[in-house]
Amino acid sequence: MAKIEVQGIYKIFGPRPQQWLEAARRGISRDELLQRSRHTLGLRDISLSIEEGSIHVIMGLSGSGKSTLIRHFNRLIEPTAGTIRVDDVDVMALGARELERFRQQKMSMVFQRFGLFPHRSVLDNIAYGLKVQGITRKERERRAMHWLEVVGLAGYDKQYPHQLSGGMQQRVGLARALATDAEILLMDEAFSALDPLIRREMQDQLLQLQSQLNRTIVFITHDLDEALRLGNRIAILKDGELVQEGTPEDILLAPADDYVQAFLQDVNRSKVLNAAHACNRPALSLTTRTHPVHGVDLMAKQGLKFSPVLDGKRLYGVLTREAAERALREGARDISRYVENMATVPASAGLDEVLGRLLRSTEPLAVTGLDDEFLGVLSRSKVVELIRPALLESEGDGQPFGERDDDTTGSTSAQRSAA
Ligand SMILES: Nc1ncnc2c1ncn2[C@@H]1O[C@H](COP(=O)(O)OP(=O)(O)O)[C@@H](O)[C@H]1O
Ligand SMILES: [Mg+2]
Repeated sequence: MAKIEVQGIYKIFGPRPQQWLEAARRGISRDELLQRSRHTLGLRDISLSIEEGSIHVIMGLSGSGKSTLIRHFNRLIEPTAGTIRVDDVDVMALGARELERFRQQKMSMVFQRFGLFPHRSVLDNIAYGLKVQGITRKERERRAMHWLEVVGLAGYDKQYPHQLSGGMQQRVGLARALATDAEILLMDEAFSALDPLIRREMQDQLLQLQSQLNRTIVFITHDLDEALRLGNRIAILKDGELVQEGTPEDILLAPADDYVQAFLQDVNRSKVLNAAHACNRPALSLTTRTHPVHGVDLMAKQGLKFSPVLDGKRLYGVLTREAAERALREGARDISRYVENMATVPASAGLDEVLGRLLRSTEPLAVTGLDDEFLGVLSRSKVVELIRPALLESEGDGQPFGERDDDTTGSTSAQRSAA
């Protein structure tokens, strides 16, 4: 379900935005609008749907309209035209009181410069949003202590912001945003001021937290590495326009234009991309209780030589076509005794590591998340496609990887090129 849905957003900054809306709709350039009218085109015709429980990255160069866009979500900025819906509620229709409550309860923001109160203790900073919500002091402090611990800063409650490093201050900012239980986190360049190492740690921590919390996170960055690591989807803005929106794979495989391509140039794909980016979720999932007739039938229909077998959300093993047929011949009641172990690779494994495994073995690999949750089967052709540009660059010749393979055959690129 869409948590946040914006449609046809235009934002023109200046004293008479409505007068220039029609020109903006007809496509007047930003520069021309500024010269003719002294108005700035902030956003032009932005439509975007942000799924509940996802991390949606908004990316673009400085001045491309990222902050302007997310400030529409909680109406810190009013659009010149267009609609904004959050949980299917028309945000533009909220009265002053409702809007205040909406902002307090639905969304919290994390900023680049942390935005902490210098004269308040760490604990009071984290508890601040709860105070505004009218929660008692005791309960505020209990909850603030909890979040302080979650972000790894237990024991720092009585310190003041200036006594902490940048990374620690940003952890306080994150704890403060999480403490209000807001369903939506708006993070505006939240990690951009941090040193690379700390930044990476914060990214890991955010992913780790998100796997438990399942909030809806809108994350602004101008850094593609960060976007690819964090984003379930990525929206790319240029001069106030949406130039591309899609999964990290979409962006890497088919950059919409030179602007997007320029972002891609410095990316170390095999490090940034992981197994989760290169897996296919099979259309059918067998379980241990599946009858052999169904197993054989389903695999035959889809032309598969094997299928993962699930136990609830977890991977139980793999059933080959041969084993399914054997189960059928032997009159088995279900396929459970015919399931073999399936090799797995964790979702977070980098494609450099994954590539090594693919070259060493031809067996199918399942991609698994937390608690062995089955995410899909690693797609050899996706792995190759995703990292191909890097290979082409380093070797100047992509021949061995030049053809697509069939993900279910289990043959390696090396075998095929030898054939
Ligand atoms: N209040 C404002 N008045 C006039 N122009 C603005 C205002 N806020 C933002 N802009 C302009 O809108 C454009 C996008 O700004 P912004 O959303 O802050 O970009 P980003 O966050 O991507 O760096 C910039 O050209 C900026 O100068
Ligand atoms: Mg900004």
